[in-house]
Amino acid sequence: MIVTIDGPSGAGKTTVSKAVADELGFARLDTGALYRAVGLAARLAGVDADDQAAVAAWLPGLAIDARPQGGAFVVLHDGRDVEPLIRTEEMGAWASKLSAQAAVRQKLLELQRRAALAGDLVCEGRDMGTVVFPAAQAKFFLTARPEVRAARRLAELRPGDPTLTLERVLAEITSRDQRDSSRSQSPLKPAADAVIIDASELSPAQVTAQMVGRVRQLR
Ligand code: C5P
Repeated sequence: MIVTIDGPSGAGKTTVSKAVADELGFARLDTGALYRAVGLAARLAGVDADDQAAVAAWLPGLAIDARPQGGAFVVLHDGRDVEPLIRTEEMGAWASKLSAQAAVRQKLLELQRRAALAGDLVCEGRDMGTVVFPAAQAKFFLTARPEVRAARRLAELRPGDPTLTLERVLAEITSRDQRDSSRSQSPLKPAADAVIIDASELSPAQVTAQMVGRVRQLR
């Protein structure tokens, strides 16, 4: 069974998808980490994220992989776990720019679909229910008011950057959401058959319970 969780940045997808996968005993794939890994690799290679021709020429040699480990998929670049390096707003912005390009999305498509071959999967991203797994049995679109999402992101990022302000985080996630929603390639939008959950007034535990309840009904 495939469970998809899409939505804008800071809606709580990562926390909730971990909890849902744990409760159901499903594996978990964070596809945002794949795009962030591409962003990291491009920055390390000195590739201009806005130069489509340069990105297309660089992509064939790019080695990104997702390896199952302890119930989740670990994202690797050149065989190295990228997790410690990708959780910044800067990497989010690189990911967002690169993910608007069809060649980048195509490069990651098979990798994402392969993750579902091993068994039941919870996957989170922007286009899980619309493009990558259109036939998924349970689809959710998780959102929240922008101020709520910015406050959540700030709490996550502040320990690493004490100078960060709510205004800056709000501006960054608003511009990222705008770019993700308005692009022609796999724009951020709910699948027609997705259950939309506004988490502005809900705790992660409440959202998790709603999702797990629905998946159990469908199974
Ligand atoms: O979810 P996360 O903030 O880690 O994603 C980083 C960026 O990667 C998003 O802003 C989006 O541009 C891109 N992304 C995407 N499609 C996905 C997952 C992430 O375009 N399935």
